[in-house]
Amino acid sequence: MTLDVLEAADGATPSRNRLQLTVVEIRDETRDIKTFVFRSEGGVPAYLAGQSMTLKLELGGETLFRTFSLASAPDSTGTIAMTIKAHAKGRVTRWLHDELQVGASLEARSPKGRFTIDSRRTDRLALVSAGSGASPLMAMLRHLAATAPDLDIHWLHAARTPADVLFARELAALQMGMPRLKVGILVSRAEPGWFGFSGRLGRRLVSVALPDFGRREVFCCGPAGFMDEARLIHAAEGGARDLFHIEHFGAAKPAAPPPAPVDAPAQGYAVTFGDKRFTAAPGETLLQAATRQTVVIPCGCASGMCGTCRVSLVSGAIDMQHDGGISPEEEAQGFILACSSRPRSDVTITL
Ligand SMILES: Cc1cc2nc3c(=O)[nH]c(=O)nc-3n(C[C@H](O)[C@H](O)[C@H](O)COP(=O)(O)OP(=O)(O)OC[C@H]3O[C@@H](n4cnc5c(N)ncnc54)[C@H](O)[C@@H]3O)c2cc1C
Ligand code: FES
Repeated sequence: MTLDVLEAADGATPSRNRLQLTVVEIRDETRDIKTFVFRSEGGVPAYLAGQSMTLKLELGGETLFRTFSLASAPDSTGTIAMTIKAHAKGRVTRWLHDELQVGASLEARSPKGRFTIDSRRTDRLALVSAGSGASPLMAMLRHLAATAPDLDIHWLHAARTPADVLFARELAALQMGMPRLKVGILVSRAEPGWFGFSGRLGRRLVSVALPDFGRREVFCCGPAGFMDEARLIHAAEGGARDLFHIEHFGAAKPAAPPPAPVDAPAQGYAVTFGDKRFTAAPGETLLQAATRQTVVIPCGCASGMCGTCRVSLVSGAIDMQHDGGISPEEEAQGFILACSSRPRSDVTITL
């Protein structure tokens, strides 16, 4: 898609809400996953079950942005929650787990994302998750428990060991009020006394754990390989491609080497981003150009799927090739994805 924007005379740009969050509770879920509960200054922001929020943190003199799904349901009163895995080498998640305390304040950007239960087309659902990928699906299930408890839902969740299973107790409790909710737990390393499924996700396992998988609309979140496998099985079982929805938590594919557009000047285009100016070399995306010149634009998947790098195009022309990370409504409001947009002229962008 190609977008040209002429600068508004009054400099008006689409607004992006900034939120101030205060930590009100921190819960241990498993050995490396915690839930952080926040109160938002000015009230809970509007969001849909499954959407995510980007946190802005200042760590060691550096500004870092990281995106996390909201695990809470929009119907829950007063607070929002994120369920976050600490990565051994992760800068932000390690800090959140080790340093963040109840009472601390964080800045965040308003919720966004297209991976929402509101986008479902049918009422026969499969939720398929691995590890912390259960987080957005839990938001969906909590929302459905409040709004459509009779829905036909089958959740298959995969974890390393029984001790790593997220939300086990709450899932059992939700089943009491959701008569058509079935839950299957798969662990890759079973232990004595484990009565759930064990092994890896595969067609044979799905035929037992989720027998009518191909006839269900699927919401899936987990590592890329896990989601690829689930998608292949769904297709092999006759599932329609457009009834398989995924959320990527990380880069799904390495950033492609930038092809040089024929009309790009050899020296590239000037990019103005707030008080920063940098150059996008021929064929570079805005994100690649910013990163090369140590300008921080929030980034999640770097491949046009998650929406974390959404910025407003104030002026100039770009080519955008994304993978579902921005809605037509957002595009109409002048938003673009920095990771998926290559300038076709000098441009001005803003958060
Ligand atoms: C839309 C969206 C929603 C998300 N929701 C959640 C959520 O609800 N809960 C949650 O825990 N995470 C979620 N994530 C993933 C989270 O944003 C990333 O894991 C983030 O990079 C962690 O930041 P960090 O600074 O700790 O790690 P970084 O410093 O960014 O990464 C350091 C190292 O940690 C490892 N690492 C980081 N992230 C991952 C990953 N996802 N998978 C495997 N290895 C990884 C890698 O080895 C990487 O090199 C979401 C991401 C997106 C895009
Ligand atoms: S970083 Fe995910 S869409 Fe750009």
